[in-house]
Amino acid sequence: MRIAVHGASGFTGGLVLAEVRRRGFTPVVVGRDEERLRKAAARTGGDDVEIRVAGLDAPAALAGAFRDCDAVVNCAGPFTLWGEPVVRAAIAAGCHYVDTTGEQRYLRHVLDAFGGDAERAGVTVVPGMTDDGAPGDLIAALAAARLGTVDDVLVADLRLPGAASRGTARSMAAIGEGEPLEFRDGKWGVTSVDEADRTLAVPGEGGGEVPVGSFPLPGVVTVPRHVRARRVRSAIRAEVAAMFRGLTADLVESIPVEPDEASRAASRWLMLAEAADGAGRTARGWVTGTDPYGITAVIAVEGARRLAAGGAPAGTRAPAEVFDPAGFLDALVPSGAAWQVEGG
Ligand SMILES: NC(=O)c1ccc[n+]([C@@H]2O[C@H](COP(=O)([O-])OP(=O)(O)OC[C@H]3O[C@@H](n4cnc5c(N)ncnc54)[C@H](OP(=O)(O)O)[C@@H]3O)[C@@H](O)[C@H]2O)c1
Repeated sequence: MRIAVHGASGFTGGLVLAEVRRRGFTPVVVGRDEERLRKAAARTGGDDVEIRVAGLDAPAALAGAFRDCDAVVNCAGPFTLWGEPVVRAAIAAGCHYVDTTGEQRYLRHVLDAFGGDAERAGVTVVPGMTDDGAPGDLIAALAAARLGTVDDVLVADLRLPGAASRGTARSMAAIGEGEPLEFRDGKWGVTSVDEADRTLAVPGEGGGEVPVGSFPLPGVVTVPRHVRARRVRSAIRAEVAAMFRGLTADLVESIPVEPDEASRAASRWLMLAEAADGAGRTARGWVTGTDPYGITAVIAVEGARRLAAGGAPAGTRAPAEVFDPAGFLDALVPSGAAWQVEGG
């Protein structure tokens, strides 16, 4: 299986490249800067890795770089700025596509704008295959499935402040002042911070109630594609929301390019989904683990593998539209993830 990694010279891309090699697939490294790509390949011990140089301003070359690959994993962000040409090139090359974006409005744009092109090309495009996007979407599907009808879904990222890369901070800064979206009565609106502000019970040992605020998570735009809910919204811990809101350009560039190994290992990610049926029945589920960037690489490569194996419907899709939710979450367990659903 041949998997193209676009943006392999970055932190997340390097982890994805290492994961492609660990899984025994053949990586093709694609990006704009040959020397940086060569260094990235060497870091994974892959002096023999094939390198193809193509910039975003050369669509034919970019599509050509992907052409004989089974799937593309795009890790070059901010996606709001640089994502679209890579989606177009993957579709033009007839390659399945996943990426590591967490940018909510960009995700909605890709899901809305490229569905027809992807269907005509016979490829499946699943953006947001990260530690929050995929687990949040899949666990929401499992919680909602416990109820007959679903009125309200809340997807929450309950991690404490922890490891973050400069690339993540740049992406948070690139999404700017746009208010978090929410899905309500078949339409998109914005969630005001005050409206969603409340506390949530953190599952697991040592949990407790923590204050949360609304935040533009991927689940708001992916979950309505497979759960018929009246309302879908998202929240994160209030202290993490405040941290992201306080990012200035100077602060972003002062963040280390890569979090160190110790802070990665100490960082726990935790995605919660709560579903309610409007008549008092509720169900909730959560997925958790450590090393958010490591698991993002595992999730993106496992997604690419499943698409390349065939059988997924063509088009732009949410994770739970194309991957069996429980089966996919189970595949993360050997990498330290744990998940649970209760209620209903
Ligand atoms: N949970 C999540 O939402 C989650 C988790 C993990 C990662 N991510 C996202 O993944 C992205 C990467 O993060 P990171 O920390 O790996 O960032 P990074 O280390 O800064 O890497 C960025 C990559 O993008 C490439 N790139 C940037 N601008 C480009 C352009 N104009 N043309 C072509 N390539 C370009 C860079 O290539 P050069 O080396 O040539 O500059 C590099 O390979 C971010 O958007 C981050 O938010 C999200």
